Amino acid sequence: MSAIGQDIPRRDGYAKVTGTATYAYEADVDNAAYCVLLQASIARGQVSEIDITEALALPGVLTILTPGQVEKIHQVDDTELYVLQDGEVDYRGQIIGAVVADTPEIAHHAASLVHFSYHVDEHDSTFSPDRHDLYKPDRLGTGEPTDTKTGDIDAAMRKAPHTITQTYTTATNHNNPMEPHATTALWQDDALILWDSTQGVHAVRTTIAQVFGLDTDQVRVICPYVGGGFGAKGEPHPHIVVATLAARALPGRPIRLALTRAQMFALVGYRPPTVQHTRLAADEHGTLTGIALAAVNQTARITEFTENAGSPTRTMYAAPNRATSHRLVVLDVAVPTWMRAPGECPGMFGPEVAIDELAEALGVDPIDLRVRNEPEVDPDSGKPFSSRNLVACLREGADRFGWADRAPRRDGDWLVGTGVAASVFPAFTMQATAAIRYDQGRYIVEIGAADLGTGAWTVLPQIAADALEVPLEQIDIGIGDTTYPRASVAGGSTGTATWGSAILTAAEAFRDKFGDDPDDGDEMEGSISKPPFHEDYATYAFGAQFAEVRVHADTAEIRVPRLLGVFAAGRIVNPRTARSQFTGGMTMGLSMALHESSSLDPRFGHVINHDLAEYHIATCADATNVEAHWIDEHDPHVNALGVKGIGEIGIVGTAAAIVNAAHHATGVRVRDLPLTLDKLL
Ligand code: MOS
Repeated sequence: MSAIGQDIPRRDGYAKVTGTATYAYEADVDNAAYCVLLQASIARGQVSEIDITEALALPGVLTILTPGQVEKIHQVDDTELYVLQDGEVDYRGQIIGAVVADTPEIAHHAASLVHFSYHVDEHDSTFSPDRHDLYKPDRLGTGEPTDTKTGDIDAAMRKAPHTITQTYTTATNHNNPMEPHATTALWQDDALILWDSTQGVHAVRTTIAQVFGLDTDQVRVICPYVGGGFGAKGEPHPHIVVATLAARALPGRPIRLALTRAQMFALVGYRPPTVQHTRLAADEHGTLTGIALAAVNQTARITEFTENAGSPTRTMYAAPNRATSHRLVVLDVAVPTWMRAPGECPGMFGPEVAIDELAEALGVDPIDLRVRNEPEVDPDSGKPFSSRNLVACLREGADRFGWADRAPRRDGDWLVGTGVAASVFPAFTMQATAAIRYDQGRYIVEIGAADLGTGAWTVLPQIAADALEVPLEQIDIGIGDTTYPRASVAGGSTGTATWGSAILTAAEAFRDKFGDDPDDGDEMEGSISKPPFHEDYATYAFGAQFAEVRVHADTAEIRVPRLLGVFAAGRIVNPRTARSQFTGGMTMGLSMALHESSSLDPRFGHVINHDLAEYHIATCADATNVEAHWIDEHDPHVNALGVKGIGEIGIVGTAAAIVNAAHHATGVRVRDLPLTLDKLL
């Protein structure tokens, strides 16, 4: 029986729920010292004076790192990693020092005794899309062009009998994984070991080796378990450099560094706020003749980041006249980064609410309107889709959800409505190598991959078992260590497709060489090295989310008693871990829709609600009934496994579905997230 497709519990589940799984901060080392970060309290300027006398006098303090008084950094690609080299302050919360002590208590106390003075420069932390200094980045982070234009959207808008011209906004969201970013660093015998909470051990090794001018084989990064990342652990952030600086200053002494929740609101990235000027033009039948999205987001002066919110508009619906653009407002703020479905997640909010508005204006069912505008080929590239089963998702979702009798109703004091939105996320494959070794009846598969809680520990053995045609019980897997072959970051929903494909290649090579009766010590490697964009096909996963929303008639309290998603995401390796990814994404989308919003105070340049008391996220009580289903999809073109990504698409359409349902219930159209009750009153 095939191991792929089996509903198998997580291999790491027992270790995690019994607390025996060791996370980065808990690395098994002797005599650890503790590092606490010091952060700038101004948004722009220079550190002019530092008084460390009192802190240094505290018994148990080992060293205090201050600007200019640390090892010189060799080379950085990401300017944010140029840490403690000078006293420049580029945003409030930036690292301007660190205290290392024998205990965390002493380190925290000493940190409170370090005093900074500053030359304060004027800063600018006010995000607005109406500014005169909007900046056009060269390319998007994905390598796509900043702007696209086909046909004449302005003419289409003038001629069309039905148009929608609206601005939609999404709030600043912080990734907030359960496990804060943490690093244990040890410099010993001319080599560095980092136990780091990361989405990619090899990415951390490459970057840190470059920053410190080391050979990569002088650096080992270990990360067997991660308590979530959602993109915020996709690239190394400055605290890893600080942990390494401290370790290099104290050879032989392991350094533990964990960010506080509040520090995570300044130091590890966030989804920037977006403004989406959205236009739709349609003929009398509801066939789109034009679709456009002009997106603006905030970025940081120190490092550029573009949220590619226009990307899904390029590919989602057919229309002869299309335009997308991306502009940035460069501010003295912390650096944004990837957050679950960067681009697609915020970028499908405006268009999917706009489609709902158009359906209402036309008196057409919103599902029918979407079906009517299905493209034959990818409108952007002209390539055929390797598979595109959005319509199947919409139809099956409608059946399962009970869409047919969806008239808004009143149930006691509650106004009840339903809504739908479509989802899309690209299916990429990155580069990776896997090794397979045979030893005493067991196949040992090793790959420098990461499991963020997503299930890699479990699904990769399933893929290996089928590829080697041996029982699953005979497979051992090693991941999360740079001693294993180089593998891509767990990001962009590419993990299973990429690492699984590498394992498949290694298994084929292994069987070619050693047959089905290998000897102890037989070993083979296999690699996959594909560009992220497919040459012949447009490769995407699709989905449809349905929401029921109840709004209290007097208080406008909002409840989402039902969320249902149907996805077309290629082959599902493990239904249990896949369902968890889909429903997790949808729950995060519910959270984005109703709760999540980081409030930046432009006077000081920092996020003021920087903890989980003030930054609200969905709890179990908010997400009472979240269901995910998928259609049986066989896509031979995406990769040999037929696997698309599943980590991100769950979040994509959810907020739009909820906002559309709230409108259905109340008649009030909200275009700005989060959908809080004041907006419905
Ligand atoms: Mo995901 S935001 O690509 O880690």
